[in-house]
This record gives sequence, structure tokens and C-alpha cells, in this order.
Amino acid sequence: MAAASQARMTAPSVLARKGGDAPLVMVTAYDAPSARVVDAAGADMILVGDSVAMVVLGYDDTLQVTTDDMAHHVAAVARTRPRPLVVADLPWMSYHVTRDETVRNAAQLIRAGAGAVKLEGGRKRVAAIAAILDTEIPVMGHIGLTPQSIHTLGGFKVQGKQLDSARALVDDAVALAEAGVFAIVLECVPDGVARMITDSVAVPTIGIGAGRHCDGQVLVWHDLLGFAAPGRKLPKFVRRYAEMEAEATDAVTQFCADVRSGAFPSSAETYHMTDQMADGLGLYGAPAPQPEHA
Ligand code: KIV
Repeated sequence: MAAASQARMTAPSVLARKGGDAPLVMVTAYDAPSARVVDAAGADMILVGDSVAMVVLGYDDTLQVTTDDMAHHVAAVARTRPRPLVVADLPWMSYHVTRDETVRNAAQLIRAGAGAVKLEGGRKRVAAIAAILDTEIPVMGHIGLTPQSIHTLGGFKVQGKQLDSARALVDDAVALAEAGVFAIVLECVPDGVARMITDSVAVPTIGIGAGRHCDGQVLVWHDLLGFAAPGRKLPKFVRRYAEMEAEATDAVTQFCADVRSGAFPSSAETYHMTDQMADGLGLYGAPAPQPEHA
């Protein structure tokens, strides 16, 4: 078990790691068992990502989940009282709304147990960030490939490949840092762009498909462990550390076979009745006692 005696991570303790020797590690989790594993493995942050829509709930994109959905998963993660900072994704249409609604939605995720919220977008999110920070809720930014913008981006594509778009990403990152975010996720950007951003801001950058020049890295639980929906092409930045879907399928296949062959349950897996009770019920050939009639 890693880090059980260490202090719980907070937004300020994440921020303090900028430029440090130890890269920050964030992994997504969406329920209590996955949160326990990420905590025991020693990660610094658990992201309850809106990727839950795709990797848990079976949708094709992240646009289908609501703040209520996110709060449900955040609460399950938070009930494990993990050492890593719990960061909750604000879903699509939860911060593209009025100031009051934005703040209320962020507060719902904090009340569910998150220690910070994450939202997608650059300069145009500065007002929303200011409003959330004003209620004392730490905010993580997210630029580059922002899956909530899939329709305007035209698909899940690497961002910042042209001079203009690369410069725009740097400007976005600087604006987010100046607005007060405590960290910024950089998703699917060329490594040189990630390096420029990392060098340009005083807050940690957490990369996913952004190369090594970031202050930390994040991966999605299901990608890292080898759970992939049939036909889903994994992006090249995913490193699979296990093949758990195949292992789980083997295990369940074995269970099916054992039930069908009679190998499950065994005597040791069974609650047995006492002989006295079996006699009393007339089981195993003994005549059952007749009820007395008055
Ligand atoms: O929702 C998510 O899992 C994310 C990560 C890809 C950073 O936002």
C-alpha cells in the first residue's frame, strides 16, 4: 500500500509541485473500487472524468452526462476517502450557462466530495473560472483536444499542429494560469507545444497525449488497464499496463463452464444444514414428523 500515512493532496499541494523533480500522476476513477486502486497505487490525483460517459456508460462521446451523473460518481469515489486530490469534471452545459448556474453546478460536485473541478476551454472560460474561484472552489483547466467541443473540432484530433493554433494554445494556457487555475490538462498536442506551454505558465501542466515535457501525466483507468469497447481504436499515447478485459472475460467464461458442469458450487462453497434439521424436515429418506392437530 503506497502513501497511506502521507497527507491528503490538495489543490495548493498540487500547485506547489510545479517544476519539481517528481512528475504529478493523475488517473481517472469513477467508483469506489477504482478509487481504492488508484489511491493504493500512490497517484497524486483522481480525476472523475466525464469520460465516464464513454468508458463506463457506453456513449459515443462525453456530451451525454449531466452534473447529477457526475455527482453520483464523485460521491462513490469520495466515500473511499482517498489520499489523492479528487478532481471532478464539470460536464458539458454545466458552465456554458449563467454565472449562478455555473457556480451551483461546481458546488454540487464539491458537496459530492470533490476537492476541485475541471473545465474545458481557454480564454473564453476566464469568466466562468473567476466565478467558481470566487466561491473558493479550485479549478483545473483543460486545453488542446477538448472532447466537449467534438462537434466544433470535427472529431477527436490532435490540436495545435499549425503555427497559429499552437500560439493560440499558449495564449489560452497563459490566460488560464492568470485566471487562477491550479493546473492545466494538455490533451493531444505536439510535444513541442506542450513544452512551450509548460515553460510559459507557473502552474503544473498534466499531459495526455502531450509528450514528456509536462509537469505530470494522466491516463484513463480503462485504457491503462486494457478495458476497451470492441472496435474502439486506442490513441497512440495510451500505454496498456494490463489486459483486464481479457482476464475478466476468461474468469467469467470459467464460471459459466463450472456452473454448467456442476463444478460450482462445491461443498466448501455451500451452507450445510445440520443432520438434526435434515431429520426434522424429513430429508434424505427419514419420515417427516406430522404436525399435531388439536
Ligand atoms: O474525462 C477525462 O477522462 C479527461 C481526461 C482525458 C483528462 O478529461
